[in-house]
Amino acid sequence: MASSMPIQRKKTSTSPTIISNSSNKDRKETKKSTSLISVLFQGTIVLIVVFFLSSYLLTDTWTWGYKNKYTNWRNWIPRKEMIFSEEELARYDGSDENLPIYLAINGEVFDVTKGKHYYGKGGGYSFFSGKDASRSYVTGCFETHLTHDLRGLTREQLKELENWASFYRDHHTYYKVGRVIHKPIDPNSPIPPPCNDATGKKS
Ligand code: HEM
Repeated sequence: MASSMPIQRKKTSTSPTIISNSSNKDRKETKKSTSLISVLFQGTIVLIVVFFLSSYLLTDTWTWGYKNKYTNWRNWIPRKEMIFSEEELARYDGSDENLPIYLAINGEVFDVTKGKHYYGKGGGYSFFSGKDASRSYVTGCFETHLTHDLRGLTREQLKELENWASFYRDHHTYYKVGRVIHKPIDPNSPIPPPCNDATGKKS
């Protein structure tokens, strides 16, 4: 009985050592996987930074030259739609340098201030500013069709008008700000007649 005692003592004395060995191993493995995650994380950050920096250096844009409405930060800001009367919209025709330039297509109002050289004072397309000149977009009558009156237009012309609306909606610098409420068109009033200068050329 006495001779078995040391063996028992040995067993109890080795037991804590075994536990401590395995917990050390566990700790080492946890450390290993943590450092692997942090290396992967840091690597990803570096890759992202390199991606955007080289894009900026090579293309002058952060998105490798790709531009659409999603690359326009203004489209990411939730904003309340502004409602304009025709008179209110007219104030934003580019004649006041301190105001933004707005134009409307089929009731939708867009901020086109970034296209000042087209829509601002003296610009080639300044007749579109401060109003809803939808009809002229598809007839090319830039003097007599500066109206939202779409009566008598063909299906193709209406489709073309929708394409113009998409042009402004999806633009990388223009963005929608609201809607214009039009006065109702008298159904008995004459439809704007075709114009002789419907060349569709810039005025
Ligand atoms: C119904 C016919 C047309 C409409 C509605 C129209 C409309 C427009 C609009 C809205 C812009 C400004 C684009 C922007 O904001 O980035 C533009 C630009 C331009 N358009 Fe037209 N356009 C028409 C016909 C033409 C024609 C026939 C020509 C050529 C003779 C032309 C030449 C140009 C040029 C060169 C630009 C670039 C800007 C500039 O140099 O002022 N367009 N057009």
